[in-house]
Amino acid sequence: MRLGLFGRGRLGQAIAARAGAQLAWQVAREAPPDTTVDVAIEASSGHAVPARVAWALDTGTPLVLGSTGWTLPDLHERIGQRIGVVVAPNFSLGVALLRRLTLVLARFCALDPQRDPYLIEHHQQKKHDAPSGTAKLLANTLLDGCPRKTAWALGGPLQAHELSVGVLRAGSTYSEHRVGYDAPAEVLELVHTARSAAAFADGALAAAHFAQRHRGVFTMDDVAATVLDPLFAGLAGPSGAPS
Ligand SMILES: NC(=O)c1ccc[n+]([C@@H]2O[C@H](COP(=O)([O-])OP(=O)(O)OC[C@H]3O[C@@H](n4cnc5c(N)ncnc54)[C@H](OP(=O)(O)O)[C@@H]3O)[C@@H](O)[C@H]2O)c1
Repeated sequence: MRLGLFGRGRLGQAIAARAGAQLAWQVAREAPPDTTVDVAIEASSGHAVPARVAWALDTGTPLVLGSTGWTLPDLHERIGQRIGVVVAPNFSLGVALLRRLTLVLARFCALDPQRDPYLIEHHQQKKHDAPSGTAKLLANTLLDGCPRKTAWALGGPLQAHELSVGVLRAGSTYSEHRVGYDAPAEVLELVHTARSAAAFADGALAAAHFAQRHRGVFTMDDVAATVLDPLFAGLAGPSGAPS
């Protein structure tokens, strides 16, 4: 795989280190070279995404969108079956697992109105967007699984139908996402902590391989499906009671 990489920051450097000899070029704000690549990864800024999508369509290059803080409502229509695109606000396979577990947790909350779901994300002060792209993904997953919640809101007084999302920007925590529910007699939480951008490099390369082999718009859940699907089979098996 010959890889083009947009971004020279923490994420870009972590992906470059893992890609090794597969890396054909790496740029930040400058235009990419004419050298053809099999796939490119956008890991710079959400502001750059519209231009990267236009470049990918012009050059017929499969594209992985790893940066956050952007919206392109017509992305699916523009991509169609022309190239493969993976939209991945979080490259970690651990977070792909967390997303599935979050859907289960949300469905559990939907069974009892006293189970109140919530989400807290924590990043270092310099992160540009808030809430994080991963927090938006997990918040929307909670809303999908628990339909009495129909919108998410940051802090402040909430309406009964709103999901409470907390954003913390402090210290040197690279990235942490905490999903849970609060009920009268118990609290359950799922926490993912990324210690550095290295947590995302393997998943970024897996997404690049996937984008190369498929046409259309996909997510990290599609990329991780071959790993995750077997894990959710047979969960109703042995009781686990001591023998
Ligand atoms: N998908 C994931 O798993 C994942 C994980 C971590 C972060 N992210 C996201 O990935 C992006 C990069 O994160 P990071 O931690 O690497 O950030 P970073 O350390 O601040 O690096 C940003 C890089 O992008 C360049 N850049 C900034 N604004 C740009 C623009 N408007 N157009 C083109 N290039 C621009 C910067 O160039 P200069 O040095 O010239 O400013 C730098 O090379 C962010 O959107 C972040 O939220 C995604």
